[in-house]
Amino acid sequence: MNDILVHQHVHSRLSLHTRVWENATRRALEQIKLRAGSAALDVGCGSGDVMRLIAAQLGGRGRIIGMDIDRRLLEGTAAVLQAEQPGLYSFVVDDLMQRSVTADGEFDLVFARLLLLHITRPVEALQRLWARVRPQGVLMVMDYDLTTARSVPEHGAIERALRLVNGSMRRAGREIDIGTVMPSLFVEAGIGAPDACEVSSVLMGARTATRMLREVLNSLQPLILRARLVDAAALERVEAALLQSADSNQFIRWPDLVTTWKYKPP
Ligand SMILES: C[S@@+](CC[C@H](N)C(=O)[O-])C[C@H]1O[C@@H](n2cnc3c(N)ncnc32)[C@H](O)[C@@H]1O
Repeated sequence: MNDILVHQHVHSRLSLHTRVWENATRRALEQIKLRAGSAALDVGCGSGDVMRLIAAQLGGRGRIIGMDIDRRLLEGTAAVLQAEQPGLYSFVVDDLMQRSVTADGEFDLVFARLLLLHITRPVEALQRLWARVRPQGVLMVMDYDLTTARSVPEHGAIERALRLVNGSMRRAGREIDIGTVMPSLFVEAGIGAPDACEVSSVLMGARTATRMLREVLNSLQPLILRARLVDAAALERVEAALLQSADSNQFIRWPDLVTTWKYKPP
């Protein structure tokens, strides 16, 4: 099973991503108007930052379960969040694609951000997520369309880095435009057409964006080299060029994040 694409550096990368997407995620969660006391499941919760935003929607009252396949990451997340708000959060180490520790039809909200891009069978994953939503509950997923990323003004090394990210993900069998394809995947999964679908974009300055891009390249290095998109020396040159452009007046349009959601009929 090769559903995990990114293991290395996951903690540091998630926290930068988290800052970038905090507002978009909060706005998305506000739209579904969760009631205090609801039960929520965050699948692929990582460092648990979305769980905090869900907690704010629930007014600190309810049950929020974080599920992740990565035991070590989850143990760190659990230690931090449970110290912040004892009794609100619980955690389960589980592979969405393998077993079912969490019960079907149990949750008012089933949420997954930046998970399906890393899963080779996203339609099956959606079916597994949907099964856990209780009647009148909601499934919300947020995922990238990697094809929308670009440098402004166009910059050789940044474009090259983006091509390496997209090329290696594609070779690994990932749907790199999964965010945009998501509504049709909902239909294919038998969930039906989503109730809503929104696109968020972020334009970042060179300092943050090149740092994030170098971290992504670093985590994808084994895939990039295995796919023979470049050799190790060429990859190092791309990373060095990114480092040099950190102080430039470049901007990067980070990949669009697409939020898709649907309520389950009564
Ligand atoms: C890119 S991170 C996103 C983390 C978090 N959702 C966020 O947006 O900040 C993907 C997370 O999904 C987890 N993951 C990947 N495949 C999984 C699977 N099959 N079952 C459960 N978790 C999985 C990874 O361990 C990682 O923590």
